[in-house]
Amino acid sequence: MMQQFVDRLSPESRRHRFFSESAPSTDLVAALCDSSKPRIQLTLIVTRIWEGKLRIIAAGSYWAKNEHTAEVAMAVDDEFHGKGLGTLLLERLAFIAIRQGFANLWAVTHVNNVAMREVFRESGFSAHEAYEGEDMEVQLSLVPTEITVTRAELRERLATTASLRPFFYPESVAVIGASRDPKSIGFRLLEALITAQFQGAVYPVNPKATEIAGREVYPSMNAVPRPVDLAIIAVPAEKVLPVVEDCASVGVRALVVITSGFAEVGPEGNVLQAQLVEKVRQHGMRMIGPNCFGILNTDPSVRLNATFTSLFPPSGRVAMSSQSGAIGIATLGAAHRFHVGISSFVSVGNKADVSTNDLLQYWEEDPVTGVILLYMESFGNPRRFARIARRVSARKPIIAVKAGRSRSGRRAAGSHTAALAASDVAVDALFLQTGVIRAETLEEMLAIAAGFANQSFPSGRRVGIITNAGGPAILCTDACEASGLIVPELSVQTKTRLGTFLPSTAARTNPIDLIASASPQQYADAIATMLAAEEIDALIIIYVSVTVVDTAGIAEGIKRGIEKGRATASTSKPVFLVWMAEGDSDRIFTVAGETIPVYVLPETPAVVLGKMASSAEWQQRAVGVVPDFDDLNLSTARTLCTTALSQRGNGWMTTEETRSLLRAVKLPVQPGGVALTADEAVAVAEKIGWPVAVKLASHQIVHKTEFGGVHLNLTNERSVRHAFASITSELEKRNTLAAMEGVLVQPMLTGGVEVMVGVTHDPLFGPLIAFGLGGIHVEILGDVQFRITPLTEDDAIEMIRGIKGYSLLRGYRNQQPADTQALEEVLLRISRLVEEIPEIYELDLNPIFALSPGEGCRIVDARIGVSRPTAGLANR
Ligand code: ACO
Repeated sequence: MMQQFVDRLSPESRRHRFFSESAPSTDLVAALCDSSKPRIQLTLIVTRIWEGKLRIIAAGSYWAKNEHTAEVAMAVDDEFHGKGLGTLLLERLAFIAIRQGFANLWAVTHVNNVAMREVFRESGFSAHEAYEGEDMEVQLSLVPTEITVTRAELRERLATTASLRPFFYPESVAVIGASRDPKSIGFRLLEALITAQFQGAVYPVNPKATEIAGREVYPSMNAVPRPVDLAIIAVPAEKVLPVVEDCASVGVRALVVITSGFAEVGPEGNVLQAQLVEKVRQHGMRMIGPNCFGILNTDPSVRLNATFTSLFPPSGRVAMSSQSGAIGIATLGAAHRFHVGISSFVSVGNKADVSTNDLLQYWEEDPVTGVILLYMESFGNPRRFARIARRVSARKPIIAVKAGRSRSGRRAAGSHTAALAASDVAVDALFLQTGVIRAETLEEMLAIAAGFANQSFPSGRRVGIITNAGGPAILCTDACEASGLIVPELSVQTKTRLGTFLPSTAARTNPIDLIASASPQQYADAIATMLAAEEIDALIIIYVSVTVVDTAGIAEGIKRGIEKGRATASTSKPVFLVWMAEGDSDRIFTVAGETIPVYVLPETPAVVLGKMASSAEWQQRAVGVVPDFDDLNLSTARTLCTTALSQRGNGWMTTEETRSLLRAVKLPVQPGGVALTADEAVAVAEKIGWPVAVKLASHQIVHKTEFGGVHLNLTNERSVRHAFASITSELEKRNTLAAMEGVLVQPMLTGGVEVMVGVTHDPLFGPLIAFGLGGIHVEILGDVQFRITPLTEDDAIEMIRGIKGYSLLRGYRNQQPADTQALEEVLLRISRLVEEIPEIYELDLNPIFALSPGEGCRIVDARIGVSRPTAGLANR
């Protein structure tokens, strides 16, 4: 195939790629195909079914020029020039080259090769150019910069958004497998499209039928008279692949595969799904599903209901992706009740091609969507999710329910979607770091969505409460405080205003209790007053039908109050209503076109407001910075890991290796050294100064204290010799002397707070960093904060402040505060280290002594486990 690709290149393209118009030798072409040693050379190809055959349409390679630099070259089939393939190839080659330890890419190109020069420029990598006659040499530095990252993200976003548009804005839709049986899914799909009044053309396809639901039916896609943008496929699983082929042959760009019987049913289904994805990608199409419930776009200019339920939710600003069809149906059904208007909905099914990450990028750009809901059972690629969600949530709130918190829940999720369930600690960390709002239940998700979709963000956390009954107001106040909100005292000015219309029996504190006999006008006046009060950022109005009162009149009074308050104080403060009126099920509450979210329980708006306040703070925050350290000696660190791996395989590094590695990345390792004999131990002690600690150095023995391996506060030569002898004899007694690497002699540390930093490796999320108090605290109290890498500076600060024992670090009673800045730096350096060296799968710095501010910290004990990283391409 490579030979054919090269042969098909025009003479000019061939000259640009191979510096000769004649065909390159077969040996050279064969060499291009060998990517078995990526440290030496690698080739990436782009394939596409074109003119009925699978062909290579672009290829790019690099070869090691020296240890740090690889030469790069590429060619794109002349038919596919100008489509961004060169830029993408360079981006991917650069990504792999960085992982292989190269720092630069080098290329030589003809000065007239404008397209290639544009590719280099477009990459965003900083370039150094030199001219040599007609040739130009370019050296690209592969250090990722803000420009390279932003450009790569932009390219991905634009490409994804464009590829998904036919799903949401098709001009014509085919239903393949439209069935004559009114109870079948195929029939209901067609019926739903028609009932929702899809604004484009609908083409039912079924070889056995001529007419269904009053529509002409076409025997195959080839028979459909006009181009089809979107095909909904509901034919039996074994027929899906040929149907996809038919779709490709008539230029369909988007497929929704409803059919089940793929990865969710086991290995055979997995194979079928892989074949399906391959076919879809080879033809440059996109696919939602398989095993999904369909998609929906409520935009009045489209009115697309490509699902098999006739439910068509009210249109609005909320987009939703659901990994479960059933949950999707239930949520769409409940949307109306919660005043949640839907912009578009996607049941992602097995996420074989289009993923939640792709949809996030689409909705980020979609002008109709203002809030995004996700029902998730698994993550395909959490690291990509982290990157995208962090960016999107800075503009549009993302509210997610992640199912599978419990062990048995996780089992169910795993079997349902054939996807890996993520550990919950990692999920919590991921959401926290990306500003995603986690809802515990579907009901909570919709309640939160109602707030986000219909009301503005509060400009602060201060809440005013108006009620006509004490009990619900107390519960609401407690819930506000539990959600991090404040229910403040009212100002004298507000109290005075309230006094002009409230009876003396009514409370003028916050909550304002209008008492059971509250009249519509008192509600109206109290609301208008509170909306004008400067000490309040949001308002919760509670109404309970405690006595026989004019409920309809109260509703009118509330509306009047909101309208007056909005007009006179010109405020967009969020307002929520708790409506606890017997027999009153109509809870849609609109005031001058504005929907006021109505809840039945007094705690709910408090939870919603808490999330809205956090989201507002998140959006105001500067984008987190992952700091760059220019003093890390990563090549030494990497060599230490690979040497340990080649000598002993997967496992712990020795004490000496561990200390050298930490020193290579400028981490504050407690001074001292490993001594092989008692004489050496004494020499080290004398060099570092008394008193010292002498500890067993062994990568095989974990619990050193239990082996009598730790001797502290040694003040003289005799005690050091005694410690050495005692450790040796204890190991001899247990027949484990071979496990001894020597003893680690360190100066004794006094004062400071003991903390720990750890890294564990989640198979799906990658490295997870832990921070907690050191020693016994971490195990007994479990007071640990976890984050996924890479850490931003804010992540590091929040991890330290997030532990319950933070008051110890801040200085407790007459204890000195600790140097938290130094701890932040340790976290950030470790984050960078494990990101750069995937061989490090486990790490434990425990204890680290945090000294007084300005004095830094000292890593006293450390363990690093290495393992060969498993290869594999990132999931979507
Ligand atoms: N092109 C067009 N139409 C075709 C083709 C073809 N190549 N092959 C078959 N058909 C037609 C048939 O003629 C038939 O029409 P008819 O009913 O008028 O005779 C129709 O397609 C259906 O074919 P059947 O063989 O009867 O298919 P069956 O009913 O067995 O299965 C379906 C259809 C819906 C794809 C089923 O296999 C399936 O996968 N069901 C589960 C779907 C699902 O649950 N998805 C997940 C949703 S999420 C959630 O559940 C909540």
